[in-house]
This record gives sequence, C-alpha cells and structure tokens, in this order.
Amino acid sequence: MSEWWKKAVVYQIYPQSFQDTNGDGIGDLQGIISRLDYLQSLGVNTLWLTPIFKSPMVDNGYDVADYTSINPIYGTMDDFDELIKDVHDRHMHLLLDMVVNHTSDQCKWFQESKKSRTGKYADYYIWEDPKPDGSAPTNMGGVFGGSAWEYVPERKQYYLHMFAKQQVDLNWDNPEVRKAVYNCMIFWAKKGVDGFRLDSLNSLSKRRPFVDLPKAAGSDYGNVFACVSNGPHLHEYLKEMNKEVFSKYNMLTVGETSNTTVQEATKYIRPDELSMVFQFEHMDVDSGRFGQYSNVRFKMSDLRDTLARWQKGMSWNALYLGNHDQPRLVSRFGDDKHFRKESAKMLATMYILQKGTPYIFEGDEIGMTNVNFKSIDDYHDLDSHQIYNHMLDWGVSKEEALDIIQRKSRDNGRTPFQWNTDKEAGFTTGKPWMTVNSNYKEINAAEAEKDPNSILAYYKKLLKLRDNTDTLIEGDFKLLSPDDSDIFAYERKDDKATYLVITSFAKDKVRYDLSTIDQKFDQLDVALNNYDDLEEADNVLYLKPYQALVVKVKD
Ligand code: NOJ
Repeated sequence: MSEWWKKAVVYQIYPQSFQDTNGDGIGDLQGIISRLDYLQSLGVNTLWLTPIFKSPMVDNGYDVADYTSINPIYGTMDDFDELIKDVHDRHMHLLLDMVVNHTSDQCKWFQESKKSRTGKYADYYIWEDPKPDGSAPTNMGGVFGGSAWEYVPERKQYYLHMFAKQQVDLNWDNPEVRKAVYNCMIFWAKKGVDGFRLDSLNSLSKRRPFVDLPKAAGSDYGNVFACVSNGPHLHEYLKEMNKEVFSKYNMLTVGETSNTTVQEATKYIRPDELSMVFQFEHMDVDSGRFGQYSNVRFKMSDLRDTLARWQKGMSWNALYLGNHDQPRLVSRFGDDKHFRKESAKMLATMYILQKGTPYIFEGDEIGMTNVNFKSIDDYHDLDSHQIYNHMLDWGVSKEEALDIIQRKSRDNGRTPFQWNTDKEAGFTTGKPWMTVNSNYKEINAAEAEKDPNSILAYYKKLLKLRDNTDTLIEGDFKLLSPDDSDIFAYERKDDKATYLVITSFAKDKVRYDLSTIDQKFDQLDVALNNYDDLEEADNVLYLKPYQALVVKVKD
C-alpha cells in the first residue's frame, strides 16, 4: 500500500472561522471551495476539516448528532460533493474529523439509549448504577469540569461523559457500536474521503470495573485519564477499524492520543493500525497547576528535548505546534510583539522540516496571533469558561484568571480568518460568530500576498523546499547541539544528501560555532534563510533574533 501521506502537508481548516459566503457570520463549505486557489498556491496538498457533521455545537462540532449528514450551518451534501470533487481535481486530499469516542446527547442512538435498559441501543453507551447512597458511581471528573457521570431518571442510572455532559461516551466494548461507527466511516470513504483525524482516539477502551481514582491536578475529582487512556482493548479495536475501513481505502489516519508516551505511541504506528498520532507531550511544556491553562512560559530546552525524543523514538510523527485547541504558535513559542514575522518563520522551519507529516493550522501561515479579549464574556469556548470559574473558586484573582485565559484559551486559534482589510477582515459580510482579532488591518492574507518578505511567502518557499527534497521527507533526524541554551538545530540525512536546520529562539544576536558540530561554513549552501543576510566570521554564525537557516552540506 502506498504511503502517500509521507509527502502530505496537511492544512487544518476550522470551518466555522475560515470563510463565510452567505453572510450568516459562520464559515461554510462554499467558503472553503472559494479559497482552494489560495490553499493550493500555499503548497499544502491535504485538507483536514474539523467536524462538519450535524451537531448542536455545544463543543463546536465535537458533539456529533448525526455522522452522515452535513451540519446545515456549513451547507449541504451537494456542497460537500462539490468540495471533494474540486479538491481531487487539484490532486489534493481531504480528511474528515471523526469523533467516535462520544456522540452528542442529541444523537438518535443516545435518545433511544436513555429511554430504557432494554432495546437495541440500551448498551450503546456506558451506563452504571448509582452508589448505594444514590451518588455517582465513582469520583471521576470530566475534562471540561464537574463529574464525568450524569444521572438519567428514566434508567435510574448514570452515563459516562469524559468531556461535557452533552458528549456521551460510546460503549466500544459493544460490537454493535463498533459496527455502526465503521459504517459511518465507510459512508465517507465511499464519497472519496482520503482519511480521518480521529478525535480522542486512545480513550475508546475504558478500564473496567470503574473505581474511585486519584485526584487530577488542580481538581476535586478523580483523573479521568487514568480510566480512559490507552485502555486494555484499544489495539484490538484499532486493528478491527483498520481491517474494516482504513485498509480498504488507502487512508491517512491520525489519532489524537493525549497522555501517551513514545513507548505507547510506537505501538499504534503500524500498517494494521494508524499512519500517525498527535502526541501531546510538547503541548505540556508550559503547563501549570491548572494543566494547560497557565501563565508559565515554556523553556526552549524542554520543547527541544521533547520533540527530539519523539523524533528519535517514532518511525513517523504528526508534526504540529498549534491547532484549534491551542493558543497561536507565534504568541506562545515566538514573540508576537517585536519579532512576529521572524519568529513565525523560524517556528515553521523548526517543526515542518522534522521527520513526519506537517500540519499547518489555518492562519499560522500569515502569523495570526492570540486575540486577548478584554472580558471573559467575549470568549465562547466552554472549556475556557469552566476553567475561568474554577480558577476563581480556587482563589485566583479575576485579573490573573483572565490573563491565563488570554494566553491559553482555545479561542485564540478560533477567531475568524483574516483575509483582507475589509470590514470583518473579509471573513463575512454579516456579524461574525466570534469577534475578529483587532489586528486584522495589519495581519491579513491580502497584505501578505503583496509582500515578498511576508510569512506567507516564506511558508511557500519552505513547503516547496520540503516537497522537492526527499532528504527532508525521508531522511534520518539527528539532534545537534543538545545543550545549547538558544539554538534548536538538527540534521536530516539520507544516502543522497545532508541538510542542517539551525533555528534560534533568542531575542538577541547569538553565536553558533559551526566547529562544535564539525561543520565548515564554506562547505555549506544556504537553502533557506528567514533574513536577507547571514553573518559569519571564523566559522562562527552570528544569528539574528529568531533567525532560521536550512543549509545543505556540499557533497
Ligand atoms: C479534542 C478536540 O480537538 C477538542 O476540540 C474537543 O473539545 C475534544 N477532543 C472533545 O471532542
């Protein structure tokens, strides 16, 4: 089977915020179609759409009510058919986001299941009796706060929801559930979909029996991940899913696997399971007492050590620094005030040229930044609200709680795409579902297209370089200068060539002595540089703030 996904560069579209065409303030499928030229000229060849299925949108589509119908806010099935045809006509691929750990509580399966303890759907979800005093079966907490159990009087039982109470965990131990889910996947595969991003994938198999768990950090509840992560039957289910679906359609499959070590992750990357996984360890480098919500800045060495560990341990990685659940990468790992362009280009170079399939989150290619809303009421994301309230309960001041939300809210990545300087950044002619970032007059795609030094122009060069260079796709990865305080450098090498990627995280000019990595300046050809010039004397590079270089070692 061809591993076409090794050449893939995936662009993640958050449909709600990408491009509206009907003036309702919400992005739509026709909007995506209208921007395919832009995406193709960027140089990406695969699109991943976050969930577009019918949903009450409690968690922006990660609560699916019907897996085989299009959410009317995004358009119709005809629009989808047009989209996939246009994508394929351009020799691009399309991935959908399958959310199969849980369904919406509005899903027909759950509506039936909650009615009684008997019947076809009775065992589709995870139902447990109350404790003798009527309270929840265990102390397990949900990821979005509160208990992970919700009582239903009709059944006199509790159901499990690891996320919001409207996101009900499916019972994967029931073969009927698995079959029903595979049928939904096959429905899309038959429409030509080229693969899936699989939400919360390593939570499908729960550890039973359910017991009280040690408390999670910053929580009064037991840590749900201890019960759900990498559970006992997961590999069995993935092999079955692969056999029934993926293997028949030559798909790219990327599983979202939080709480997973390299050692565990290697077991998923096999021809009979998944192409790759989204690991989370590098997203924890700036975690605090409330988990991902903190005002702690990362240490470059932690980011480098973590990414290098995954490079070393895995045959193939899903490469990402941002997505719809994370703050903007330039605000988090770069400097969006003084060196926005330089640091955005540097970060892209650092992660996109590692070994694996790169994922670019919409807007990162023009250097969109965090949004810094001034009031908690401007944030939409349910998780941001629950954590804000939780922080107040724990005695954090309102100012500090808002500061943390501003830095880390998932909404930072969800504001409307900034296309141009028109009203609402050209995203909509109506009122956008979420406020546009006020910096859109300066940061937008139209301005970036005009500027040969823009972040966008640099992304195009970077992606072309990767696409044209087998060594940067398949070559081995080796970390260089592992103890340097400012430089993240690595080598990509195969029997054809050797490339060095040298990136600086410093805000000042720093030295990088090439002798320490056994290289000679006159033996290097610069393939890419995020500055116009390069300062060198006596085999020492003097790297400017956030400078990034890709060099080829001469034969
Ligand atoms: C991960 C998704 O990326 C996130 O947006 C969602 O809230 C949870 N899974 C629950 O589906």
